[in-house]
Amino acid sequence: MITKPKGCHDLVGLEAKKWKYVDKVIDSLMEKYNYTYARTPIFESSELFHRGVGETTDIVTKETYDFKDRGDRSITLRPEGTAGIVRSYVENKMYGEPGPVKVYYNGTMYRYERPQSGRDREFTQFGVEVLGSNDPLVDAEVISIPVLLYKMLGLKGIKVKINSLGDRDSRDNYREALIKYFTPHIKDLCEDCNDRLNKNPLRILDCKVDKDSEILKNAPTTIEYLNEESKNRFEEVKSYLEELEIDYEVDPRLVRGLDYYNHTVFEIEASVEGFGSNNVIGAGGRYNGLVETLDGPETCCMGFATGLGRLVQALDLEEVKLPIIDDIELFVMYVSDTEKKYAASLVQYLRANGYRVDTEYTGRGLKAQFKQADRLNAKYLIILNDEDLAKDEIKIKNNKTKEEETISVDYLLYFLDEHLSEEEYDYDFDDEDECHCGCGHHHDDECTCGDECHCHHEGEDE
Ligand code: HAM
Repeated sequence: MITKPKGCHDLVGLEAKKWKYVDKVIDSLMEKYNYTYARTPIFESSELFHRGVGETTDIVTKETYDFKDRGDRSITLRPEGTAGIVRSYVENKMYGEPGPVKVYYNGTMYRYERPQSGRDREFTQFGVEVLGSNDPLVDAEVISIPVLLYKMLGLKGIKVKINSLGDRDSRDNYREALIKYFTPHIKDLCEDCNDRLNKNPLRILDCKVDKDSEILKNAPTTIEYLNEESKNRFEEVKSYLEELEIDYEVDPRLVRGLDYYNHTVFEIEASVEGFGSNNVIGAGGRYNGLVETLDGPETCCMGFATGLGRLVQALDLEEVKLPIIDDIELFVMYVSDTEKKYAASLVQYLRANGYRVDTEYTGRGLKAQFKQADRLNAKYLIILNDEDLAKDEIKIKNNKTKEEETISVDYLLYFLDEHLSEEEYDYDFDDEDECHCGCGHHHDDECTCGDECHCHHEGEDE
């Protein structure tokens, strides 16, 4: 038997339904924020990531999937989404449009990591990038996107950590301070950190080997080295976060593992018990120099990405019940060949009219078809028989109450309209009457979410 590669997953069954639901919520949320969907190639020329993500990052030195294609070109499977979006922005001269350009993506990324819970070799990121604005409001708004997404999905335990790396001058000063601080201790750190000392001392701070070392814990923090302008900018970002009612804490040791950041950086942790060490479900920051590094004009940018695997894992650990569809509205049953022919066209007709319908495909007898309909959680059964069809009639049975009626075929759509009310999940959180907590309840359903929930139940005050 051929098995899947290490660190990859098959997304099937209930798990796939959860992900599709999350995708729909993402698309809906992005419409509200007015971001446009963007899809860039899964593989790009290797140089893009070497220049974009940074030569000294773990991602580029240890984790990329690199290969030569048949034309002898160096190709890399994308380890993240930002570099590709920036390449596309420059290549398509999107800087010529009135800015800012606001895009989002949702796709697979590849890193050759040591597979463990929350750390895969193929994983999916939903991310956004705003290109062409240095407004601190953009920083706060970008941070608000994952916060609102997690809330809409019903995730409760999150912690937002922010920091500022400052502008180029502040970063250079900080770099010098780190070299000075680490030089006398460097022999006590790993081989990679020795290598990083002069190339990129910031990378020592997110070393996976030395992460618990006292030397790292006592290192100088970025905040101490921010110049006046960077400090003021960080204050503005924080004040906008407060305006947007986003709880955060400043973590002066947060530096992030990619080279392109400056000013604001942030991470969002899932605080639910049982998550393990890979509990950062979303992260991002400002990268004002990357467009120039990739041969574009000076452009200020901000973005973030969230790993959907870690997000769904957090939802599972919090036992959030997503309102996924796990039933069908109608199951069409038949026995004879003529009934089957009729079933085929009826099923087609009902689907074209917007109903979720299934039928029999494996030659089961009527009794087994009833069982199959139950397995599929069918709400109504249409039981065809030649005698009824000769009179243009069909039997329809409520699979819950077991009430059965014989109705004229012409009346079927009216019947369904009356009996199958719109119960599809609705993630349109703009609707005032809807629950904003992500529990999936409609305003007139009984909600069991408890105190955190602001469901507006009919006839009750909010
Ligand atoms: P990152 O921190 O490398 O940032 O990844 C963002 C998120 O992707 C992580 O917080 C995590 O949820 C998920 N993730 C990363 N690596 C893995 C993995 N091996 N397995 C499972 N999930 C993973 C970036 O990628 C930046 N491009 C974010 C950004 C966008 N900054 C600005 N714009």
